[in-house]
Amino acid sequence: MTTQSQILIKGGKVVNEDFSEMTDVYIEDGVISAVGSDLQVAAGTRVIDATDRLVLPGGIDTHTHMELSFMGTTAVDDFHTGTKAAFAGGTTMILDFVIPQKGCSLLEAYEQWRTTADPKVCCDYSLHMAVTWWDDTVKKEMETLVRDKGVNSFKMFMAYKDVFMLRDNELYAVFAQCKEIGAIAQVHAENGDLIAEGAKRMLSLGITGPEGHEMCRPEEVEAEATQRAITIAHAANCPLYVVHVMSKSAAKVVANARRNGRVVFGEPIAAGLGTDGTNYWHKDWAHAVGFVMGPPLRPDSSTPRYLMDLLDDLSVTGTDNCTFSVCQKALGKDDFTKIPNGVNGVEDRMSVIWEKGVHSGKMDENRFVAVTSTNAAKIFNLYPQKGRIAKGSDADLVIWDPEATRVISAKTHHQAVDYNIFEGMLCHGLPVVTISRGKVVYENGQLFTKPGMGRYIPRKPFSEFVYNRINQREKVGKPCAVCREPYTGEIISIAPKR
Ligand code: URP
Ligand code: ZN
Ligand code: ZN
Repeated sequence: MTTQSQILIKGGKVVNEDFSEMTDVYIEDGVISAVGSDLQVAAGTRVIDATDRLVLPGGIDTHTHMELSFMGTTAVDDFHTGTKAAFAGGTTMILDFVIPQKGCSLLEAYEQWRTTADPKVCCDYSLHMAVTWWDDTVKKEMETLVRDKGVNSFKMFMAYKDVFMLRDNELYAVFAQCKEIGAIAQVHAENGDLIAEGAKRMLSLGITGPEGHEMCRPEEVEAEATQRAITIAHAANCPLYVVHVMSKSAAKVVANARRNGRVVFGEPIAAGLGTDGTNYWHKDWAHAVGFVMGPPLRPDSSTPRYLMDLLDDLSVTGTDNCTFSVCQKALGKDDFTKIPNGVNGVEDRMSVIWEKGVHSGKMDENRFVAVTSTNAAKIFNLYPQKGRIAKGSDADLVIWDPEATRVISAKTHHQAVDYNIFEGMLCHGLPVVTISRGKVVYENGQLFTKPGMGRYIPRKPFSEFVYNRINQREKVGKPCAVCREPYTGEIISIAPKR
């Protein structure tokens, strides 16, 4: 690993969410110590020439599942391969999920996940916690997680019936608790009951392939749950974050709710922005199965462009990186309901969004930074430690060559999975150097990492970006009773029941 503790990035265009400027960045001991011209630097400082290149905050992937055990098998990208691949793609932080089984302790699951991740992880990381069941012990554990463990986001499943799914009354209770403790509620928004019925129907019609996976859970199944989650969150005055927004219908629901003043954020993912659900109808089963994830990609091939157009409104991008090789996907060879759900993305998200967003002319470099790091840092209370190039921020940076190109392929990617849903995609815009807390971890195609070099980043509750409006509404929006003289007139009597 390169060990310089001082680096000067010279001659590049520094891009933040609000503006870009030609200037230099000086890094000392893992943090950005100065941004400006003619900076005084220590003897022995390494100088990196960034002429004609952009200097961006490192990407933050808001949604990964490294080595998740799910649907009978374990995701092949673990915290080591997954986070190395993240560096190769210009991502310097991930937020992964702890998912306890129903009835199991959230705190124990958290400790277990830290024990799994800490010795392997290469980039900095934080953890979201899934709430898969509900009672008073869960409520107390949520409080402990926020107070002592740096967790400020909780994901609830409206799908995966009988496995992870919560009912509406439980969602309300969890949302209300999130609001009390200053956390953000996240939902996997799909109607689990309808999926279960739809799946039975498809199988009874003899549809056993990956196309059945999409047909049993069409867009409105996602849109309905999204609207329901927003309604429940509003009733609890709780901020809401809809993970993996996959369809036009669900994206519209989130965008409309935001326009109506709801505190809600949406997270399209690289898969949904870079490819589509027509792949489920591919004649080659081994190709089609690789795209199976929940909610599914949509067969309407204009969906990726639509989601890209709404990105500003929805706010952030993740990947839902949860990789199973084809032989694992083959558990569902004769029954699509048994295909382990999940796709790749952690390595390619930045390139895919640059290609489909910036290169295509849909967004500028500043919006790119907003949707790949800054907004996530603000929502999850990591800002400005992460998501910004400024004095005092962590030195997590990417030197980006907007002109360079590459073709995405499983043959050259750094992930452990044996296929790539973006296979063959030509991408303009590449990371040439990735810096994680002041260390060069990727340069000219080579990785300089060691397992366990990443840190767990605890997050405080009541992120201002999210809670300003919530707290104010709590203060001024309390329902109150009308003052009246008591009614003194006649009241009918009801005969007592026998
Ligand atoms: O297909 C998916 N999304 N797999 C990971 C679990 C989840 O729902 O996020
Ligand atoms: Zn999910
Ligand atoms: Zn997920």
